[in-house]
This record gives sequence, C-alpha cells and structure tokens, in this order.
Amino acid sequence: MYRTHTCGELRIENVNQTVTLAGWIQRLRKMGGMTFVDLRDRYGITQLAFNQEVNSELFEQANKMGREWVIQITGNVAERYSKNQNIPTGDIEIIVSDLQVLNTSATPPFTIEDESDGGDDLRMQYRYLDLRRSVVRKNLELRHKMAIAIRSYMDKEGFLEVETPVLIKSTPEGARDFVVPSRMNPGEFYALPQSPQQFKQLLMVSGFDRYFQIVKCFRDEDLRADRQPEFTQVDCEMSFVHQEDILQMFEGLIKYLFREIRGIDFKEPFLRMTWADAMKYYGSDKPDMRFGMTFKELKPFTEGHGFSVFDSAEYVGAICAPGCAAYTRKQLDELTEFVKRPQIGAKGLVYVKCEAGGTFKSSVDKFYSQEDLKQWADFCEAKEGDLLLILCGQTMATRKSLNELRLEMGRRLGFCDKNKFAPLWVIDFPMFEWDEETQRFYAMHHPFTSPKKEDIQYLESDPGRVCADAYDMVINGVELGGGSIRIHDSVLQHRIFKALGFTDEKAEYQFGFLMNAFKFGAPPHGGLAFGFDRMVSMFAGLDSIRDCIAFPKNNSGRDTMSGAPSLIDDSQLDELCLKINLPTKE
Ligand code: AMO
Repeated sequence: MYRTHTCGELRIENVNQTVTLAGWIQRLRKMGGMTFVDLRDRYGITQLAFNQEVNSELFEQANKMGREWVIQITGNVAERYSKNQNIPTGDIEIIVSDLQVLNTSATPPFTIEDESDGGDDLRMQYRYLDLRRSVVRKNLELRHKMAIAIRSYMDKEGFLEVETPVLIKSTPEGARDFVVPSRMNPGEFYALPQSPQQFKQLLMVSGFDRYFQIVKCFRDEDLRADRQPEFTQVDCEMSFVHQEDILQMFEGLIKYLFREIRGIDFKEPFLRMTWADAMKYYGSDKPDMRFGMTFKELKPFTEGHGFSVFDSAEYVGAICAPGCAAYTRKQLDELTEFVKRPQIGAKGLVYVKCEAGGTFKSSVDKFYSQEDLKQWADFCEAKEGDLLLILCGQTMATRKSLNELRLEMGRRLGFCDKNKFAPLWVIDFPMFEWDEETQRFYAMHHPFTSPKKEDIQYLESDPGRVCADAYDMVINGVELGGGSIRIHDSVLQHRIFKALGFTDEKAEYQFGFLMNAFKFGAPPHGGLAFGFDRMVSMFAGLDSIRDCIAFPKNNSGRDTMSGAPSLIDDSQLDELCLKINLPTKE
C-alpha cells in the first residue's frame, strides 16, 4: 500500500495514529537539529518532521532530498507545537519513522507554489509542473464540478448526450476551418468542427428531441484572452420549441450553476435587451450590466453653434462618469490618448466638468454657453461632481469607441467587481450583416437561423432590416453563449441562401446533406451553445480562459510544451500527396 491517507486528510483526531503518506516535496526547511518537509499531493500539504536526536540516519537522508522529489513516509501523527491556521492539516505533523525515495527530481524551473516566480511562457512550457500549483489545479477542479452539474441538470431535463464526429465536411462560413488531409482520399480534406451545428440539427430530424454535448470545437481565428483555437462548448438543441422555451430552459441552467457552484440565488428573471438597444445604449452586443453610464445622444443639442467637428458628425454621444469632475489635465490627456489608440479609433475626446455651484468647464466652452452645457448635463442626468465624456463621428464606429471608453471608466471606477454577476439576454439580432470589403451580406449568426416571422416579407426587398430569432447570453460583458431558432422549411432556407448570395449549386455543395435531411420531416427546432471555458473562467474569476484549460495554446496558437504545430516528415507529406509551398520572405 503506497499510502493510508492523502496529504490533505489528517486532523487533530488522528493524533497518535501510524500513517503512510506519499507525495512531492514542496519545501524543505532545515532548522538545526530538525528538518521539516511540506509534503504535497492533489489534496493538500502535510508537514513531516525529521528529528536528529530521535533518528539521525533518517535525518541525514532527509537533508539530502530536494524540491519535487517523490517520497513515501511512515510515521506517527503528532499535535504541532506551532499550528498553521492557513491549511486544514495545520494542527498536526508526522514524526517520520520510515522514508522511501520513490523518485528524485531535477530542480524545477520555477517555484511550484501559489505565488510562483515563473513567467507565463516558462509555466506554459512546463505546464505539467504548473498544474501542480494549487491555484491552477483548483480551476480544473471547478471545471470538473461544473461539467458534472451541467450533466446533472441536462439529464434531469431529459437531454441526451450524443457524440458527434470530429472529422467533418468543411463548410466555410463564420471562422476559418482547421483542415485535416485524408490519406485514403488523396487531395481531399476533412475539417474539424467549428461547432456540431449541423449534426445537432440532424439529431432533431432523427427525433432525439433534446440533445446536448460537452464538446471540443475548433476555429482558426485570431486569439484573445477569451478565445482559444480549440475550446469547449456546452452544445444544446431542442425540438418543438419557440425562442421563449429555450430562454427559459437555459436561464434555468445558468441559475442552477450559480446556485450549486457559487451559492448565488438569482430570484428575478434575467434582463433582456434587444440588439438594437444594446448598440444604442452600450455600443456593444455584449454590454457589461454591472454598471450604468449608458450612452446619451447629444446631436440635437450640439448642432449649429459653430463647432464644425460636432456639426459634421453623424453622431455625438456622451457618457456620464460619476464623481470624476475633479479629473486633472493629466488624467483627461490620458483618456484622450486612450480613445485615440488605433484599436479604439476616436479622433478626440470632449469633456464637460459639472462643477460646484452649477457651473461647467469644458474643452468646447468656446462654442457652447453655460446654458448649453447645463442642457447637456441635465439630459445626461449628470450631477454636480460628474464628468461628461463625449465622442463624435460615424454612428456605429463612435458607439464602439464609446463602449471602450465606458468599459475603461468602469474599470477605473471599480465597477467591474468579479464577484458581482449581471446576466443579460441580448435578443432580436439582425439576420444579416453587410460586409463592405466583399460587398455582400453575411449571416450574423449562421445561415440556418430563422428570421422573425414578421420580417420575412423584407428578405428580398430590405435584408438589412430583417431581425432573427437569435439570442446571446451575456454576463459581465462576456458572451457566454448564443443560439437561435432554426429554419425547418426548405423554401425559406433557399430564400436565405439567396439573400446571402449563394448559388443553388454552392448551397447544395456546402449544405446539401442537411437540406436533403430536411425533406424528411424536420421538426421545428432551436438551440444554443455556451462557451464552457468562458463559463468556468467567469465562475473562477479568471482573466483568461487559458487558466481553466489543462493544456492551452499561446496567442500564436502554439503549444510551447509539446512544440505543436510542427513540421511533418517528407514521407508523411508524400503519403498525403501534399507539397509545402511557403511564401518567400521579402
Ligand atoms: P457561437 O459561435 O456563438 O455559436 O459559439 C457559442 C459560444 O462558444 C464560445 N466560443 C469560444 N470560446 C472560446 N474560444 C473560442 N474561439 C470561441 N468561439 C466561441 C462563446 C460563444 O458564445 N453553433 C452555434 C450555437 C447555436 O446556434 O446553437 C455556435 O457555435 O462563448
């Protein structure tokens, strides 16, 4: 028997018992005639004591050991003289009577403790060591608990977990596919699924009624803190449902998770907001609802005062930053620099300070009187001590910049408490999105999304105004999940393909098997998918989803530990009938 207990198990009640433990040496402290070892495993840390006077041979042996050695000890549980309140085993220690070294260890490249001296890159290169740190392991424990809770809820609601294939047909729409060459079919490729979208719809045609899957998805897109090339979805689909049924079912799931995992009980229904309002008041389809500072449109108040920047702008919008009228020149310059960053894209920032006694100080007070500025402040519901921050320009672009400014002010003002959760359904997404570059409409969600019944009439005449039965769940400004009611009528589906500029041949080539299946009695259906990594990292309060993934990729899509992606042998290429044709470097 390697062990009688784990390193997190022994308490004061175990005093005087003889126990055997096995684990890794986290730390070794030599204190004269005593050596103390912190022995670690997944479950915790237990202190071992080696006393020179009691057993000098064992004491010498212990002193030769190093960090991360794997050992097995037998000894007596004793009450500790100086107790450690910070760990559950802190009342006891083991007076070691037998020691076996099971394995030695090279010196680890960073300290394997909660506060490590290893940088991000080093820890990723030695991720198996990083995973020994309890802060990282706890995230994976939470991930496991959440997966169990999700399966339990879904099972209770009658959903079946069905696995769908990973080598599928490439259907380029949405993100870029990862592709896999087929040896048995030279020159042909599989794609890795961006999501099991079409398969779950086929399962509805098959009569499965309620499907879910915790499933790996793959997207070859630019990476960010909340994006990985391979990530996990909680993917769901239901038959014979309207949008409302789906919102209820999955609001239920999220509430269940908050209750079970975080002990938070949401009694009220989640807020709902149309996409149009989200863009108008927050400049984002995923507004952070933990704080206000909604947009106010000032255009009607700014016109005709000789300030050409405002006069020529399509849109003038303000946010009111509470208590910020005392911002210094330096702070305002900083904010101006912030909005002028290329990724934010504003040309400049106008401010109005609402000062004591109802007076106003502004960067544009050459053009606007105190009465004008008061009118703006009143319209923005600004109080004495508040600061109006104003951007102008083309409507959509300015709203997006103002969104970034709002989020930055939210962070500065401490409104982004990680332990506060503000869930929101964003509904009524537009069906199509116009792309200037390719001069065509794209499906905002995907081409199987059902347009709203009342908007079907505009499919050909004014596609831009058609809204979809599509919805996203947003919490704290993060898109946690999204989905839609699907089209189950092939005539309507053809009209959508047409609006997207697909020829019949292209639609047939890409989606023919799904369209064909729909000829055999497709039930009305709909669903959604949650980003599981995003869910876990939100529940754990993490800044990046990488921290809740055992072996994540870095921002260049690399696994620095294993070295993937890597070159393959010429013989492998030959077998696949492939030739590498790298662009020549300029
Ligand atoms: P969508 O593309 O919105 O919908 O994806 C669903 C959710 O998956 C998460 N997600 C990601 N998480 C980490 N890294 C990524 N690269 C990444 N991309 C997406 C997000 C997102 O909300 N088939 C549809 C769902 C449906 O209609 O049922 C779909 O995949 O949290």
